[in-house]
Amino acid sequence: MHGNEAQRARLRAAKQRGTPADIRAGRLTPSPSCANSLDPVLRPATKNDLPALVELERASFNVPNWPADTFLRYECTVAEVLGEVGGFLVSREIFGGTNTAPPEREILNLAVDPRYRRAGIATLLIKKEFRKKALFFLEVRESNVAARALYESLGFVEISRRAEYYNNPTETAIVMRMK
Ligand SMILES: CC(C)(COP(=O)(O)OP(=O)(O)OC[C@H]1O[C@@H](n2cnc3c(N)ncnc32)[C@H](O)[C@@H]1OP(=O)(O)O)[C@@H](O)C(=O)NCCC(=O)NCCS
Repeated sequence: MHGNEAQRARLRAAKQRGTPADIRAGRLTPSPSCANSLDPVLRPATKNDLPALVELERASFNVPNWPADTFLRYECTVAEVLGEVGGFLVSREIFGGTNTAPPEREILNLAVDPRYRRAGIATLLIKKEFRKKALFFLEVRESNVAARALYESLGFVEISRRAEYYNNPTETAIVMRMK
């Protein structure tokens, strides 16, 4: 599709869904069908995103623990939905690789705005991460059924457990690796 035409189609779709203000006010629920209908744009996070990233972390975890200055210490990708931060993924390289061993990366943090969940946004963020060609690791709370299902759906497998790894509440971490 030509650029201008694509832009017009996006605007038409956004109009049908309502304005960002409508969605913020809970007047409309985005279609759960797929991320395409939300048309997320994946891009590196910038300083301007920090307030929204902190707010999204607060909305996503019982005990948020990422202060604003943490996000940009690592590689942070934002999924922009209707011009706002609708999700993010933070990762870092933990091993640069050698001639015989691939690089290794860790997914450190991931969240999607509760209004946009089950629309494939986390999947898009992780698939973008996979383009970095590395072995991927992550930790997840044992009770986090949604995140574990997401990671398993993308091919992560459990490789170990760390008892009492998390605080507030104390909980086991499941360590996963991309197969
Ligand atoms: C976990 C989280 C990031 C998933 O984001 P999302 O954009 O809704 O995930 P996706 O839409 O890409 O889901 C892909 C698949 O994961 C699984 N999944 C996602 N959420 C699920 C849930 N609540 N229950 C069961 N399975 C779930 C499903 O298999 C889903 O595919 P389907 O919708 O076709 O059934 C989101 O729920 C979230 O932000 N949670 C709070 C923060 C968090 O726990 N982060 C992870 C820390 S390790």
